Amino acid sequence: MKQVIQVTINGKPRQDEVEPRLLLVHYLRDVVGLTGTHIGCETSICGACTVLLNGVAVKSCTILTVQANNGEVVTIEGLATDGKLHPVQEGFWERHGLQCGFCTPGMIMAGVQILQRNPNPTEEQIREGLEGNLCRCTGYQHIVEAIQYAAQKMRT
Ligand code: FES
Ligand code: FES
Repeated sequence: MKQVIQVTINGKPRQDEVEPRLLLVHYLRDVVGLTGTHIGCETSICGACTVLLNGVAVKSCTILTVQANNGEVVTIEGLATDGKLHPVQEGFWERHGLQCGFCTPGMIMAGVQILQRNPNPTEEQIREGLEGNLCRCTGYQHIVEAIQYAAQKMRT
């Protein structure tokens, strides 16, 4: 039986009837139409589906939509404000963190979480913070530099 949920997504409240088994990533992409959150492994390994739920980075492929009831979700589409990129997005642009592109939304959301927890992380702390997000194309160097760029920008 479907359940009614209320959730605020990128600052906008909405109400939907969903199956209890519907995963958050499928809700965001197929019901809400926010396809910036990508699906990679669907088993909580790659991090492509990372979003913020009540301020915490979660893998939306392993969260049920009903678990977000009365909560607040931020996706990659919700980061820019008034047409201005979030500093982490800007860092990915400026420091070539975009690379393959598929993992980028999840990496950016993880980057936002890293800087929320620690505005001045070391390179090692950034790499630790990215442990749940797989990049198979390079050694993460540009992604780390993108987050360092954002950290500096957010502190000044
Ligand atoms: S799709 Fe969710 S962690 Fe890979
Ligand atoms: S950024 Fe996607 S595999 Fe490296």
